[in-house]
Amino acid sequence: MSTPDLVADAVVKRFADHVAVDSLSFSVERGSFFSILGPSGCGKTTLLRMIAGFIAPDGGDIAIGGRSMRDVAPNRRPVNMVFQQLALFPMMSVGENVAFGLARRGVGRADRVKRSTAMLERVGLGNAADKRVDELSGGQRQRVAIARSLVLEPTLLLLDEPLGALDLKLREHMKIELKQLQASFGTTFVYITHDQSEALVLSDHVGVMSHGRFEQLGTPQDLYYRPQTPFVAGFVGANNRIVGRTTQADGEIAEIATADGWIVRALTTGAIAAGDAVEVFVRPEVAILARNASELPPQHPQHAGEVQSVLFDGANSAVLLQEARTRREFRIALPQTGQFSDLKPQEKVAFSFDPSRAVCFAARAGAAGQDA
Ligand SMILES: Nc1ncnc2c1ncn2[C@@H]1O[C@H](COP(=O)(O)OP(=O)(O)O)[C@@H](O)[C@H]1O
Ligand SMILES: [Mg+2]
Repeated sequence: MSTPDLVADAVVKRFADHVAVDSLSFSVERGSFFSILGPSGCGKTTLLRMIAGFIAPDGGDIAIGGRSMRDVAPNRRPVNMVFQQLALFPMMSVGENVAFGLARRGVGRADRVKRSTAMLERVGLGNAADKRVDELSGGQRQRVAIARSLVLEPTLLLLDEPLGALDLKLREHMKIELKQLQASFGTTFVYITHDQSEALVLSDHVGVMSHGRFEQLGTPQDLYYRPQTPFVAGFVGANNRIVGRTTQADGEIAEIATADGWIVRALTTGAIAAGDAVEVFVRPEVAILARNASELPPQHPQHAGEVQSVLFDGANSAVLLQEARTRREFRIALPQTGQFSDLKPQEKVAFSFDPSRAVCFAARAGAAGQDA
């Protein structure tokens, strides 16, 4: 394996008595798309600013391209950063914006024009070099910002929530573009976001961050199918969350009872004994819906519910149920067949899920209080 492009070794940053980045260690493979995903305030920007060199860690070390960055000034680091605000120069042409960093590095005019023109071609803006930035659409400006960074051939491109200011449609489009740009350039991207869908779609690997630490680092599939903590299960993808106590926890599948008497079964992660407080997560697409219990797979425990509302959203349609006994809300993704398109509120239905596809963790402190 080649040297990772980025290695963080026990990196710490404190602001007064607040630990913003808490002894974080990870590495990012050359040429990969790495995302740091976490809620606002968890320390993402602080981490990125340390990688860029704008602030110094209080402990630990950061290496880029195999070299420690201790005492290396930001402008000497092989990194470039793309911000949400883009910070393009409105008075300059698109071509001048892209060539700006090259000029600062003393690259001669002819070479600057050649390299910035080639870069604009590669991002699909070959004929925009002479336009002013304010003549471009939001998506095109985003591409100029990325082109301006990539033309400097950084080892790492750091992106701090670059799509955050765009409207939903453009964001969806730019997600795909960013992924394709990264793949075609092969530059290592370190991307921070609080949007789990962006992280899943874009990344080779994702570090899920909470309170200055990574709860889990893995592929998008790892995080989605094999969450290792209740925080990850709750933050990545949609999930039904059920809080209760185990009544039985001998094998891999535990039986859990909620305080109001709903019994479910789920696969345990970590050490769990009978009587423990737990959190169970069941993905909406893991549950199966039927009008009659007899239509459900016979091998899984069956539950009864009443339709609360049908959430039509094309391919992402779902039904919100209330479990019959406890009136707890439970979401089930609707199949694409249109089979349930005529479901009505108050209709009685049956549902089930494969317990080996539901996950059960020891409850976090205070978790019972957050019960939905
Ligand atoms: N310069 C600073 N001085 C004091 N506190 C800061 C400073 N920068 C960030 N923080 C605090 O550190 C925590 C992490 O902030 P930040 O890295 O910006 O989070 P994120 O980017 O994940 O939203 C927050 O509680 C924030 O208030
Ligand atoms: Mg931030």
